[in-house]
Parts: sequence; C-alpha cells; structure tokens
Amino acid sequence: MNLPEELFNRLLAAAQDAARQAHCPYSNFRVGAAVLSSDGEIFSGCNVENASSGLTVCAERVAIFRAVLAGKRSFQAVMIYTPTLTATAPCGACRQVLAEFGDIPVIVSCCDGPHRLQTSLSELFPFAFGPSNLGR
Ligand code: THU
Repeated sequence: MNLPEELFNRLLAAAQDAARQAHCPYSNFRVGAAVLSSDGEIFSGCNVENASSGLTVCAERVAIFRAVLAGKRSFQAVMIYTPTLTATAPCGACRQVLAEFGDIPVIVSCCDGPHRLQTSLSELFPFAFGPSNLGR
C-alpha cells in the first residue's frame, strides 16, 4: 500500500524535524519517527538516550506514546528517518510496541540517500505476540 504523495511528504518532514531534536550524545545516531493515526493526525518522536544506556528510548516509541497520550489506538503508517545513506528499520523492541495496536499497513524508512524500505508491520514482525494471545 502506498500513501498519497502529499501525506508521505508531511510524514517525512515531521520525522526529519524530530530527528533534529534527537538526544543522542552517546551514539551520535539521530532518528526521527512520525506516526499517522487512522483518523489522519501525525505524531512525531526522536530517540532519547540516557547515560544509563539501557534506558534509551527509540524515536518510534516516543512517537507512538505521544499518539496514545492523545487518545489514538489505530495507525495507518509509521515513517522513520535517519540522516544516513541507508534506511533504518525499527528495532525489535519497537516492532513489539507497534504490534500492540494491530497491523500497520505502511512502515517506511527513509534516509539521505535513495535507499528506502517499505513494508507492513505484519511483514516486518510476523507471528507477533499480542493482545489476542491474552484473549483481547
Ligand atoms: N534507535 C531508534 O531510535 N530507533 C530504532 O529503531 C533503532 C535505534 C536509536 C536508539 C539509540 O539512541 C540509537 O538509535 C542507536 O542505537
């Protein structure tokens, strides 16, 4: 599934703006994410690192948690942007967190080169443990 170009560009711009806010003094690896709720709102996030490295939170989780705080529980798309030459797919922990809200048809990673990854959450994270395992 492809997003309309105007929406794709808005999501990418939101993820790029977010990447500029990344707190990443340890890795120097900036990540911005933007999630698009099913009702058309965009929420962005950046990675927030911590001197106690296990406490670092990825950009995707910051974005989805901001959306949850605004009452959203269903999502159409997630954009990940890194200012690199190859695109970055969401880490395993973020895949699990995204899977809490069901399949997401568009997960797209963009970078500063032509390389792009696009897939769905169910393709990226098959056989997920989720609410249905708990009878929800
Ligand atoms: N990072 C993300 O923000 N999202 C990902 O999907 C992969 C990794 C961040 C965490 C850490 O701040 C930095 O990238 C290097 O691992």
